[in-house]
Amino acid sequence: MIDEMMRQTIEGIIKKLPCRDSAVVPSLSYIQKVKGHISESDMEDLAVILQFPEARIFSAASFYSMLKLKPKSRHHIQVCTNVSCSLIETVTLFDYISEKLGIGDGETTPDGLFSLEAVECLGSCGYAPAMMINTEHYENLSFEKVDEIMDAIIKG
Ligand code: FES
Repeated sequence: MIDEMMRQTIEGIIKKLPCRDSAVVPSLSYIQKVKGHISESDMEDLAVILQFPEARIFSAASFYSMLKLKPKSRHHIQVCTNVSCSLIETVTLFDYISEKLGIGDGETTPDGLFSLEAVECLGSCGYAPAMMINTEHYENLSFEKVDEIMDAIIKG
C-alpha cells in the first residue's frame, strides 16, 4: 500500500517528467527502493495515482528484471543463461547454483539468505560465464570460484 508521503513523492516524480507514461518505471523503482519490493496493492495504488489501467502497471513491473515483485533475499543471485555463458561446461552455471542451493528460478532459500534468478545477459559475454550477487558483478566463473564466493558469503 502506498501511503500519503509516498504518494506525494510519486506526484513529484510525475511533475518532473514530460508525461505520465514516463513516470511508470521511476515510480515503481521508487516504491521498490522504499519497500524492498513491489506488492500487488502497491501496483493497484500506483495505477490510481497515474490514472492508468492496473494491467499497464503490472506489465511494466513484470517486464523489467530489476523490479522485484517478491521480498528479496539478503543475496540475490542473477545468473546469465544466454548462449555465451552456457557453453563453458556440460552443466550450466545456473543449474550448478540451483542444485547447490536447492532452489529454482525465482525462488529463495528457506533461511532467506539467497534467491536465484535466470537472466538473459549481464553484459559480460566476452568474460563468460557471469553472474551478479546484489550489485556485485562476477565474470570468468568456474564452479570452484562460485563455491569460494558463496562460502565467503555464508561465513559472513
Ligand atoms: S551472454 Fe552471458 S553475460 Fe552476455
